[in-house]
Amino acid sequence: MRTKLFISFILIISIALLSNIVFENLIIKDFDDYVRSTEEDRVYWLLASIEGSYRDGRWDSLSLRESLHWAMMLGFEAYIEDRKGIRVLSTQDILKDLSQSMLKRMASLFELPSGVGRFSWYPLYVEGSEIGKVYVRPLKRLGYLPLKEDIFRRRGKEFLLISFFIAGGGAFFVALLFTFFLSKPIRNLTIAAERVASGDFSIKPISHHRFGRLYRFFRCEDEIDRLTGSFNYMVEALRKEDSLRKHLTSNIVHELRTPLTVIKANLEAVEDGIVDSPERVIKTLHGEIDRLIELVEGIDDITRAEASFFKRGHPETIVLGEFISSVASPFQGLLTEKGLTLTLDGNRSTTVSTYPDKLQIILKNLISNALKFTDSGGITIRWARDRKGVFTISVKDTGRGMEKEEMERIFERFFKGENSDGRGLGLAIVRELIETIDGQIEVESSPGKGTEFRLTIKEV
Ligand SMILES: Nc1ncnc2c1ncn2[C@@H]1O[C@H](COP(=O)(O)OP(=O)(O)O)[C@@H](O)[C@H]1O
Ligand SMILES: [Mg+2]
Repeated sequence: MRTKLFISFILIISIALLSNIVFENLIIKDFDDYVRSTEEDRVYWLLASIEGSYRDGRWDSLSLRESLHWAMMLGFEAYIEDRKGIRVLSTQDILKDLSQSMLKRMASLFELPSGVGRFSWYPLYVEGSEIGKVYVRPLKRLGYLPLKEDIFRRRGKEFLLISFFIAGGGAFFVALLFTFFLSKPIRNLTIAAERVASGDFSIKPISHHRFGRLYRFFRCEDEIDRLTGSFNYMVEALRKEDSLRKHLTSNIVHELRTPLTVIKANLEAVEDGIVDSPERVIKTLHGEIDRLIELVEGIDDITRAEASFFKRGHPETIVLGEFISSVASPFQGLLTEKGLTLTLDGNRSTTVSTYPDKLQIILKNLISNALKFTDSGGITIRWARDRKGVFTISVKDTGRGMEKEEMERIFERFFKGENSDGRGLGLAIVRELIETIDGQIEVESSPGKGTEFRLTIKEV
């Protein structure tokens, strides 16, 4: 993630730099060309002026002087040679004849008397025939008088600098934005984690969707998503554990109080000498102590079951028929003992992907209940893969069935019907486990006829 950030940052900076360099090359080069061409224009103007001073086969000295005077004003040192190579006139000659004020003016513009660099020459023509050559080289301008061109160049450089800072600033801003988009979900997670650490499990699961399209565009969703997903699962597990612990504690307190109160009352009765039948007291005490022992074992059971709630487990693809028959087979002995039949009904080749460890505990509980509360007839287990990604399993018995009032309470912890020798925890465990494998449980029952438990589970 940090690498992505870094690369993007570098990319943007280089684009900014590159655009500046391109600008420098294109615009400044163009401008230099332009400056050179205007200089050439000045030379051609000078040539035309000199050629205009040649009339009727001879130089008009007055107008030639004027031309060379102009040459100096335009910033050139120049001299003219005729066809035979004899020097006709030079700007140096002109300088000698200039008036004092004119000379001063020239001297304020250029470094006089001579120019810099090499002379370059241009041929002079009048009516198609060469009349001589003019040699020119630039006069050096005095430093404190900046050229318009130099001003432009300097402005160009300033512009480049400013644009570079703007581009750099833009890049910096984008980088900030980036960091914000990346760090925001992490910051949220941090805040959430701190709240969880302080014992507040009420925080809502964090979803990345609210960071929007821009965030997804930067494609950091995969890592952050996984982190958020795990975090949400962890919070959910903690929340569940927290509420289970609170429930369990209050259940245990409640369940312990009843037998302990009974034991205490009986002991007090013995102490007070108001007991007529010590055998009955002893029997009661025994019964209550058995209840206590059972409770302690039940707590052990449920603790073990709860431990498995918090393990996500490994999803596996199972052949449903095979799986169910392997879960049911340990009950075969008891079934035969009671003279009950077991019917398995479903497509033998149906496969589903789910958490077999948890499904096994659920089925075992349902089958053992069906076995416990059925005296004649039998148990039928049906399965089917309903829609895509959803399967159902039903455990149906022809047992004693339940009244509506009983049915409403069977999933409560420590609830058990009359003449059940269990601990009343089986269905409580079933209900909690079925949630963890993304399923639902329904029950249908009629007294004296039988009961059916139906599971609807989403595949992993
Ligand atoms: N198949 C069934 N037929 C009739 N009653 C049932 C059936 N399954 C569960 N029950 C009722 O629900 C209660 C709770 O079941 P459970 O939580 O498994 O506890 P336990 O099996 O220890 O009694 C049972 O005591 C019983 O009254
Ligand atoms: Mg049970």
